[in-house]
Amino acid sequence: MEYRTLGKTDLRVSALGFGCGAVGGLLVKGERSEMTRAVARAIESGVNYFDTAASYGDGVSEENLGRILAERRADVIVGTKTRLRFSDLDVIEPAIVASVDDSLRRLGRAQIDLIQLHTSVALARRPERQWLGPADFDAAMAAFSKLRAQGKVRHWGFTGTGESAALHQAITGNVQAVQCPYNLLNPTAGFTTPRGFPFQDYGQLIDRAAENNVGVIAIRILAGGALSGSTARHPHAMQQVDPIGTSKTLAEDAALAGRFGFLVDEGHAASLVEAAIRFAMSKPGISTALIGVATLEQLETALAAADKGPLSAEALARLGAVWAGFSGNAWQ
Ligand SMILES: NC(=O)c1ccc[n+]([C@@H]2O[C@H](COP(=O)([O-])OP(=O)(O)OC[C@H]3O[C@@H](n4cnc5c(N)ncnc54)[C@H](OP(=O)(O)O)[C@@H]3O)[C@@H](O)[C@H]2O)c1
Repeated sequence: MEYRTLGKTDLRVSALGFGCGAVGGLLVKGERSEMTRAVARAIESGVNYFDTAASYGDGVSEENLGRILAERRADVIVGTKTRLRFSDLDVIEPAIVASVDDSLRRLGRAQIDLIQLHTSVALARRPERQWLGPADFDAAMAAFSKLRAQGKVRHWGFTGTGESAALHQAITGNVQAVQCPYNLLNPTAGFTTPRGFPFQDYGQLIDRAAENNVGVIAIRILAGGALSGSTARHPHAMQQVDPIGTSKTLAEDAALAGRFGFLVDEGHAASLVEAAIRFAMSKPGISTALIGVATLEQLETALAAADKGPLSAEALARLGAVWAGFSGNAWQ
């Protein structure tokens, strides 16, 4: 396993990170024995970053992760998240402190390595979408900073969802990491975009974050599962997945995924899932790419993909033509 430094922190994270969220669902709805074996197998393979959130299964993911790590006495890096609701905006600091205290209790830890804001951001508050404005964001980061002074968290960051301009503003602030959507369907956080590209333009957020020494954690590397080419959901997995930064529906994303079939047909990767994981690992500036899994078998596929490392330069050079096909305009 390759390890990369997370921005300006002292954390060296595995290039593949373990997503404990509800989309994959193993750490939320899985059988105890399978989730335990999966975490053990990940650690044995060198995965050292585990990503959870207070909201995943309403605390269940944090409890399961905390229990398994304690049983194994595992020395790994744990990131979790706190969501701010609009009803919290007059009491941001106490709301964050209460959420972090609850996470520490569920995880059974004295300290969280990386705490992240789990609410989308905009250039001005957007109540209709529950997106925070810059002052709310800054207040949340200030609360994280106080929690560091108290020893409850080591580093902090945020979820890179919301308005692209607000995300670019946020990475210039007092933050150490951002979770950035990045995948074969929407590569705009890492590539320039042709005119008319149909999806949200993240404006090379990964490169800009790297320039600011902000660590990047890639999310949605399988577009919530669509990059398997199938819309069938495993019983552990979230049954209704809303795409982030791609098509309106998972089915539309899965249909588009077929355009990358040449990566498999021409031997660049053994499967589309492998190609998608290796694509995320190819981007300089990404410290760790998270995979969401429903089963131990899916984890094995991800570990095998990570072992193979980045896609070849030849494969990467072919992608621009596919993206150009999304918009009908030449890729720059
Ligand atoms: N900060 C945030 O707001 C945020 C948002 C999203 C994600 N995340 C983090 O990122 C992690 C990953 O989640 P994600 O939403 O980004 O999902 P993802 O990794 O893009 O997709 C996960 C889905 O891919 C499918 N899959 C995985 N391995 C597969 C395989 N070998 N073959 C076929 N299908 C496979 C599974 O779906 P099926 O089994 O149902 O096919 C699974 O539910 C989360 O756990 C979380 O830690 C954070």
